[in-house]
Amino acid sequence: MDSRNIRLAVIPGDGIGVEVVAEGLKVLEAVGTKVETTTYDLGAKRYHETGETLPDVVLEELRGYDAILLGAVGDPSVPPGVLERDLLLKLRFRLDHYVNLRPVKLFPGVETPLGGVRPEDIDMIVVREGTEGPYAGAGGVMRHGTPHEIATQESLNTAFGVERVVRYAFDKALSRPRRRLTLVHKTNVLTYAGDLWARTVERVGREYPDVQTDYCHVDAASMFFVNQPGRFDVIVTDNLFGDILTDIGAAIAGGIGLAASGNVNPDRTAPSMFEPVHGSAPDIAGQGKADPTATILSVAMLLDHLGLDSEAARVEQAVADDLVERATGRAGRTTREIGDDITARVAG
Ligand code: NAI
Ligand code: MG
Repeated sequence: MDSRNIRLAVIPGDGIGVEVVAEGLKVLEAVGTKVETTTYDLGAKRYHETGETLPDVVLEELRGYDAILLGAVGDPSVPPGVLERDLLLKLRFRLDHYVNLRPVKLFPGVETPLGGVRPEDIDMIVVREGTEGPYAGAGGVMRHGTPHEIATQESLNTAFGVERVVRYAFDKALSRPRRRLTLVHKTNVLTYAGDLWARTVERVGREYPDVQTDYCHVDAASMFFVNQPGRFDVIVTDNLFGDILTDIGAAIAGGIGLAASGNVNPDRTAPSMFEPVHGSAPDIAGQGKADPTATILSVAMLLDHLGLDSEAARVEQAVADDLVERATGRAGRTTREIGDDITARVAG
């Protein structure tokens, strides 16, 4: 791949997904890297028109790109779970996005609901397993809708799946100044899966003597996110725990409008997919009220993944500068105005 010429698949999706992705693309273009984009109309509209969520031919086509930028999918008119499972999770599973990377970072000038914390107190990255755990779709239902209904939802944890995400997390920790890795799980109750995770961290950790490891139960970790966020650097955790923890992370680091993420295939056997953590926000869709910052920070992660480190840093710096200015009174801008301002900083 010539990383200077990015072939990008774009899935704007539904609701504000369309609005924020437009701003993300503007910023990407301003970086000056040659980008060839192809837009895919997946989401609620396509589902209503054709009944399709993610046809296999589209999935196969998506494999040919360097990366995917996604807005958000979901609409009140579509039964819950359809787009989430058959589109979003299918993409993550089939493209083997086994790392769901979610930085939790408080930028200077950004308000946090926590008292007395400084930006340097909230600077961590959550490495959430992306293809297993309770999200694997294992389980079933019997006697549906009767008083005797039985529903099971199993958590799948494979030695292979745990080891690869744990190795990724150790490498990530090694690349950061604090070199600290925390396993978050619930080993005292979920003893089978927990034991596999704990043993894997222990064993792989012997190969990383420079990384300091520790362990935290997920309930305690939820509390520490709020009252001692500074204790975390890199966190590695299972799919469900990571999902929940990173919403707390978004809340303490300035809200869902700023939270970026990457669904990463570190082996590069398929394109990775970058998206804001938030959903399609039907309550504010089409009104120019959505904050595109999370998408723009996801674009920075995308650039970083493609080896364009300095371009990624430029985008992140432009966001950081814009956030400082917001704090000093530039509130009330529309989605497009925020996008334009950040684009101008990147270009300038
Ligand atoms: P949501 O993230 O869409 O919205 C939650 C709240 O945050 C709303 O009040 C919304 O207005 C606000 N919000 C979200 N993003 C914002 C932004 N960029 N700027 C300003 N405010 C923002 O979550 P919700 O309401 O639970 O879900 C709405 C739909 O999105 C559902 O169909 C859900 O399944 C889907 N969804 C999709 C995701 C994805 O595509 N990755 C992730 C989460 C939800
Ligand atoms: Mg979530």
